[in-house]
Amino acid sequence: MPANVPPDRAAPIGVFDSGVGGLSVLKQLLRLMPQEEYIYLGDSARVPYGSKSPATVRLFAQQCAHFLLERGVKLIVVACNTASALALEAVQAMTDAPVIGVIQPAAQAALQVTRNGRIGVIGTRATVTSDAYARQIRALAPVHPGRNGRSGDPVRVLSQACPLFVPVVEEGWTEHPATRLIAQEYLAPVQEAGVDTLVLGCTHYPLLKPLLQELLPGIRLVDCGEHAAVQARAILAQRGALAQATGRNGNPGRARFFVTDEPATFESVAQRFLGFPVAPVERVVIDHWFPEEAPGV
Ligand code: DGL
Repeated sequence: MPANVPPDRAAPIGVFDSGVGGLSVLKQLLRLMPQEEYIYLGDSARVPYGSKSPATVRLFAQQCAHFLLERGVKLIVVACNTASALALEAVQAMTDAPVIGVIQPAAQAALQVTRNGRIGVIGTRATVTSDAYARQIRALAPVHPGRNGRSGDPVRVLSQACPLFVPVVEEGWTEHPATRLIAQEYLAPVQEAGVDTLVLGCTHYPLLKPLLQELLPGIRLVDCGEHAAVQARAILAQRGALAQATGRNGNPGRARFFVTDEPATFESVAQRFLGFPVAPVERVVIDHWFPEEAPGV
């Protein structure tokens, strides 16, 4: 945004994800900034992103961002770890509006929380393969300052892909014995590595918090959505772009929901993520638009 154009405080915040997962991020945004209006896009026709190639995720993310930018959003939250890992810069290059992902805020929070400098990260295969969290953590703090600021040990990051967590959460199996078994299997290397902090590097994982905390007593869990919301608010405040206290029409903030597949499935799962019904949800087409440099996939 050019410096001489005053920001439109009443413009919505755009949030996108591959499907329902980003609602765990939207939940944190609504909690922190209830006065704002939101446009949420779930690319439910092409979910999951976590098993797709970087080029495909980049194109999908750009198409989501294009949809939001056409609706005049004042900030975009890439509310998907996989898209944040693989497409954040591509989306940032599309606009002068601020675009934030979920990885940098969570990496920063993990560094603030850890005492022993050993951080675990769990996420989709694409997020873990990208090594985005480990790179971000090391870029922010190549060595851990230690409890009293004297230790100079390198920060250690143990990343573990947990691809089965996404379907079990969508199935509503957050307390199912099968999920417990899967979690025990996935978390064994995390425990062995002696991490004291675990980043929930996927939008679905906050719904597994009670189980993960029970299986990992004493390990601090970092919810990426919580920290992304704090960063979003700080950016809007710094630009003088926060909505007025009561929202555009004197109502509390509200969200409009768009998906790329049939709304029914999204609606039924969404309530579990947000805690309230999301209808009406509108189906939209976003795959007819291509960024100039991207070939169709
Ligand atoms: N939203 C994705 C993430 O946070 C998980 C679901 C998917 O694979 O698309 O990485």
